Amino acid sequence: MSLVANSNKEVTLSEATLKRIEELKSRFPEGKKKSALLTILHEVQDGNDNWLSVEAMDKVAEVLSIKPIEVYEVASFYTMYNQKPVGKYMFEFCRTSCCVTRGAEDLIDYTLIKLGVEEGQVTPDGLFSVKATECLGACGYAPMLQLGDYYHEFLTPEKMDKLIEDCRAGKVELLSKV
Ligand code: FES
Repeated sequence: MSLVANSNKEVTLSEATLKRIEELKSRFPEGKKKSALLTILHEVQDGNDNWLSVEAMDKVAEVLSIKPIEVYEVASFYTMYNQKPVGKYMFEFCRTSCCVTRGAEDLIDYTLIKLGVEEGQVTPDGLFSVKATECLGACGYAPMLQLGDYYHEFLTPEKMDKLIEDCRAGKVELLSKV
């Protein structure tokens, strides 16, 4: 497990995040508050530029009154949590069988070369990063990636070119309205 700190300062959670955390904790009885951990990690990640620093995870441990290692274990197990800074546009490519069979590996390589980064790095302008994930449940639309709340499917190098261009132009939605 490799943990990254984003500063030496303590993480301050926003009022909105703290309120939401309290609401999530209230759904579980005393002694079972840890059950809210996954959702709380999402909340904190959303408020921390889409990644979980050591300080952010320590804060989660504090609000749940659990040990930091219990948070690190969960955050490092699931690929949906980012433990390093990520680009504004993070291409999460599925790298499981159907997508691989239909060219996901080549497409990931194509994208990395085009952006000039290694997997897990962020482009110098802070815009892009590339990550491989397990099956995202859209096997019939392979190869595919997730970008924010949206899936981009039946990908080709040409479609990646267009997607990157649209991101640079600020034309790509990341969050659904629902
Ligand atoms: Fe890629 Fe399922 S194998 S979405």
